[in-house]
Amino acid sequence: MESKQYLLIPGPTPVPDSVRQAEAQQMIGHRSSDFTKIFGEVQDGLKQIYHTKNPVFIIPSSGTGGMEAAIVNTLSPGDKILLCNIGDFGKRWGEMAKAYGIVVQEIKKAPGQVIDPKEVAAALDADKNKEIKAVLFQQNETSTGALNPVKEIGEIVAKSHAISIVDSISGMLTAPMKVDEWGLDIVISGSQKAYMIPPGLAFVSVGPRVWPLYEKSKCPKYYFDFKQFKKFDEKKQTPTTTPVSLIYALQAALRLILAEGIENGYKRHAAMASFVRSEIRKWGLKLMAEDKAASMSVTAIWPPEGIDPEAMRKELKSKYNVVVAGGQGELNGKIFRIGHMGGVTMDDLKFALDALKKVLAGMGYKFPEGVA
Ligand SMILES: Cc1ncc(COP(=O)(O)O)c(C=O)c1O
Repeated sequence: MESKQYLLIPGPTPVPDSVRQAEAQQMIGHRSSDFTKIFGEVQDGLKQIYHTKNPVFIIPSSGTGGMEAAIVNTLSPGDKILLCNIGDFGKRWGEMAKAYGIVVQEIKKAPGQVIDPKEVAAALDADKNKEIKAVLFQQNETSTGALNPVKEIGEIVAKSHAISIVDSISGMLTAPMKVDEWGLDIVISGSQKAYMIPPGLAFVSVGPRVWPLYEKSKCPKYYFDFKQFKKFDEKKQTPTTTPVSLIYALQAALRLILAEGIENGYKRHAAMASFVRSEIRKWGLKLMAEDKAASMSVTAIWPPEGIDPEAMRKELKSKYNVVVAGGQGELNGKIFRIGHMGGVTMDDLKFALDALKKVLAGMGYKFPEGVA
């Protein structure tokens, strides 16, 4: 018998059986009426999840492609952006923008901290010549397990001369995301996170304030051209050959997500995050983000002093088939992260934390008195 792998990393996440079965269906033509029926259903589902009337383009790429699409369709070399950088994915966006000759003004935070919306307001107020074209930030910074105040930042940017571009790749479906209500211009999410489908699709909502910038934007674009996506989206298709199997999977996953209810999904993720955080605290370990900035999808944890998180992860995998993530970028080898999104259940977390406790005890960690 194959033993179950407890995959508790912040993506890819476990794919439910019904989604895997859906994905295995026979091919149909991606320009056929059978296909456009399915595509119409997933377009509607995505709009419900995003809480938007704007189109949500389905882009065959990983999440980073969605981030790049947002840049090349709105900006020109020499333009300035305000980058809210709270971790490795913020850093990635800065590097990407610079690769296109974009000038990056940065608000940078230490690992675990989040953006103070007042700092965004101050930077935009100080920009008297309206040089800042866009404000870029993560909803959920996966590398540090920190959740930015998206509503507050979004509402400030919505009243300004700049547009907001939000990476919700690991945040979507785990914490509220009200695109229209909060006035968010571009929001990106990715299939392999809380959507519970394999990697390979990026979802990008595009609001009306984006199109005037699109018309002026001089960054080179071809595969990611929003006008192409808009044209084909209206026909319930994508510009190039659609990964049909992933659309089958998306259809099945959206049915599960909508049957649970989007708000119920947020509650379930909050309960999982809170369970992991309270257990870890009881053990005397330190969490990277404070409660008020806690991610609902991934918890970043400092290992006990003297314990190598990589050796700990190796033992957890080999003895218990539990997979947690290590640190990323500058946190590589320093922390570990427990993913709790999508199809992960409370029972999975209980099993994994129990296994982790045994591994830590085996490595010599002395738990506080009273921890069984
Ligand atoms: C917040 C965030 N942004 C961007 C990405 C990049 O997505 P992908 O690896 O799908 O390109 C990830 C992936 O983990 C992420 O968590």
